Amino acid sequence: MKTPVLTFFNNKGGVGKTSLIYHLAWMYASLRKRVVVFDLDPQANLTAAFLDEDEIEVIWGQPGKGSTIFQCVKPLTSVADVVQPILQNIATDLYLLPGDVSLSGYEDLLSTEWPNSMGDNNLYRPMRILSSFWQVMQMAAQKIQADIILVDIGPTLGAINRSVLVATDYVIIPLGADLFSLQGLKNLGPTLRSWKKLWQKRLDNWNENHEKEDYPQFKLPQGKMKPIGYVCQQHGVRLDRPVIAYDKWVKQIPNVYREFVLEETPAEHIRQSEDPYCLATIKHYRSLISMAQEHRKAVFNLTSADGAIGSHSLAVQDAKKDFKFLAEKIAKNIGVEL
Ligand SMILES: Nc1ncnc2c1ncn2[C@@H]1O[C@H](COP(=O)(O)OP(=O)(O)OP(=O)(O)O)[C@@H](O)[C@H]1O
Ligand SMILES: [Mg+2]
Repeated sequence: MKTPVLTFFNNKGGVGKTSLIYHLAWMYASLRKRVVVFDLDPQANLTAAFLDEDEIEVIWGQPGKGSTIFQCVKPLTSVADVVQPILQNIATDLYLLPGDVSLSGYEDLLSTEWPNSMGDNNLYRPMRILSSFWQVMQMAAQKIQADIILVDIGPTLGAINRSVLVATDYVIIPLGADLFSLQGLKNLGPTLRSWKKLWQKRLDNWNENHEKEDYPQFKLPQGKMKPIGYVCQQHGVRLDRPVIAYDKWVKQIPNVYREFVLEETPAEHIRQSEDPYCLATIKHYRSLISMAQEHRKAVFNLTSADGAIGSHSLAVQDAKKDFKFLAEKIAKNIGVEL
């Protein structure tokens, strides 16, 4: 069985995608699920959260090795094939395939091969390139017997993210309670449906083509892209704005999600606190976030030795409960037993 791929995505940037994945990765590892995290955002913020600059410098300085996602797929830009990923073992049951600023250079090839993959012949190479992220993800998962693949991407609707979504089984949408996040949500729903449909066309085209018989071992992702819910982030709230403005946007989220992401009829009087699609509301961790970044830890793993004393230590315990609850809820949605 293939390892489920879970991608966190919103067309609005800065909504806390990277921080959320970082914390969930630590939480799953502590629950003894083996996680492999893929940093597919060319900004590589998630990589910087896990590794220090010296470590990243060494990794980026070894092109051709398979130590970053770009190094793994780069051979496809010439005549060779993807290479086996070299994963960073961050902790017990926690692995990372680092991101790479150079990954943006792959966007053009993914754009060019998208129409080529709908032709009548020479389909293998375009299909290999378009599914290359998934090929590397599954190689990595097999190598370490991973239970879950968590994927971070940037907030764009470009060819890199389209290929990541093609590789994705489940999508979680982090958002803030503001106009921009809701607009991002409105753009995201139709985009996901369109990518799913267009990938299905490519799969059908490949399956009907005689070329398929020449590559019996070649497996392709199904492009499921199933949205399983949203996570509302409170840290984006501007402290100078009245609570009433926050409430106004919070009230709209359940129905915008239903209408634009699920194409469902809006529900009447549904509050976010009762909305089954609201997976969690993440609190504003204030100074604990920078404390956690400084110690390269999840907020909920901070100790008094790190400076989490007094009210901080209560907030740390709350964060642990909240993230455990969220990790369990997601696992249930994607069929992973804890
Ligand atoms: N729960 C939180 N409490 C306080 N600050 C937070 C919280 N979550 C994230 N932040 C901060 O908010 C900023 C944006 O978060 P993050 O980088 O995770 O967002 P992102 O959606 O991944 O952004 P991008 O779209 O640029 O990739 C960061 O400075 C991060 O430290
Ligand atoms: Mg990010």
